[in-house]
Amino acid sequence: MRKNALLMNLIVIVIVIIISACAPQAEPYQAPERDPMLVPPDEIVLVDGFELTNRVTEEWKRSGKMFTLTGPAQRESCAVACHDGYAFSTGEFARQHIVSIDCQACHSDRALEYLRNGTVDVPFTDEPLEAGMGALCITCHHGRTDARAKYEIFANGGGVRLTAPHHGPAALTTGLGGMEYPNVTYGHSIAHENLQDTCISCHMPETLEGYALHTFVLDDAYAPIICGNCHAGITDFNLNGFQNQVLEWVSQLEDAIFEETGAIALSEGGGQLLLFTDEERRQRVNPRDVSLEVYVAAYNAYLVRSDGSLGVHNPQYTKSLLQESYRALTGEDLR
Ligand code: HEC
Ligand code: HEC
Ligand code: HEC
Ligand code: HEC
Repeated sequence: MRKNALLMNLIVIVIVIIISACAPQAEPYQAPERDPMLVPPDEIVLVDGFELTNRVTEEWKRSGKMFTLTGPAQRESCAVACHDGYAFSTGEFARQHIVSIDCQACHSDRALEYLRNGTVDVPFTDEPLEAGMGALCITCHHGRTDARAKYEIFANGGGVRLTAPHHGPAALTTGLGGMEYPNVTYGHSIAHENLQDTCISCHMPETLEGYALHTFVLDDAYAPIICGNCHAGITDFNLNGFQNQVLEWVSQLEDAIFEETGAIALSEGGGQLLLFTDEERRQRVNPRDVSLEVYVAAYNAYLVRSDGSLGVHNPQYTKSLLQESYRALTGEDLR
């Protein structure tokens, strides 16, 4: 008991939270199954101090950030950029001590600079982005490619690599990081792009108990809280079936790519888009035989699939990237 209390205190000191009293051990936190908007306000109990720390810790433990991928965490540049919590926050790399994206990764040193300054450099714009507290998320989740530059290289005949976007929800969220054709006007969901703290505005909503949720991956039960101010009556993220529609559009675009190239699958490996021609995934289309239209289509199809929000991050931009890619490839519109 005494050991546990000491350990708890240590964690709490590290994250600089002042505890006023020792509260009893909390139950592990679950996202509410009830409709959060229907809970009578007098039944909501706000939590703070020890109880709050326990809940946040429990949520974090259930998120993907609890563990780290050992491969990239052992390479210095990847560790410092994103994959090792300690290397990220301090800039110091220690190969034999892998650290996950833990509390200190987001609550000390470099992370605090992002949270306070609210600006972040991304490869796909010339100026730093203004992203509020979301600057912290974006520095790890921007996709690591400049689609403009890749397009230029390919269009000028130098395309021997099909560079892929690397886990970059920020490319769609900001409406700036898809692969665009010059002289084409793309749609934008301005309200989604302008949320004050970008990622954090949606991914860390204030729970009914009055603190910022730390599961990072979202549960539909939070849709009324996250989206309800703008989309009255929303009950899940698949608003009017929009996510199903995006899935359908991506499939149509992929089918068009397959028809054009003879490939049967599109995936990613070693930072490259791979167009496989056999079930065993041993043979693939030579990048030199890939047209600009196929590359643009494959880049955007993979960007949308790997983004994970099925269009929610930026509905109009997602739709328009898929539409323009399809149009250039087939001469027709998506159905
Ligand atoms: C230090 C880098 C870093 C920061 C900062 C960061 N992330 Fe992540 N995030 C990652 C990594 C790496 C993963 C993948 C986890 C793994 O290794 O499997 C991840 C995973 C996720 C996932 C889960 C994806 C999945 O498919 O399971 C979500 C959602 C997410 N992050 C959102 C956020 C949000 C929101 C923020 C800002 C509050 C944020 N991240 C800040 C590095 C970071
Ligand atoms: C700050 C207000 C705001 C928030 C918060 C917001 N939206 Fe939106 N959303 C809008 C506006 C305004 C539009 C319509 C115009 C547009 O697409 O630019 C829209 C459009 C959409 C569309 C496209 C609808 C269509 O038929 O074209 C979807 C889907 C959507 N939002 C889902 C969501 C989801 C899910 C959430 C919560 C995770 C959310 N939105 C949060 C303001 C918001
Ligand atoms: C408008 C609200 C909104 C904003 C802004 C937003 N997200 Fe999301 N994001 C969502 C929703 C909702 C989902 C989940 C969709 C679902 O589960 O159906 C999602 C999904 C994701 C996923 C995939 C998670 C999984 O389970 O596969 C990641 C990763 C992610 N977001 C990261 C980010 C990052 C990083 C940012 C900032 C650049 C960001 N999001 C901005 C609402 C948002
Ligand atoms: C991926 C980044 C990330 C990780 C990991 C993370 N946090 Fe946070 N945390 C944040 C951000 C960003 C905020 C501010 C959110 C806001 O104000 O909307 C925050 C807010 C908090 C708060 C204030 C909550 C409130 O609303 O009063 C506490 C306490 C906290 N974090 C504790 C922790 C602890 C403990 C851990 C580890 C178990 C942890 N955090 C891990 C990003 C993170």
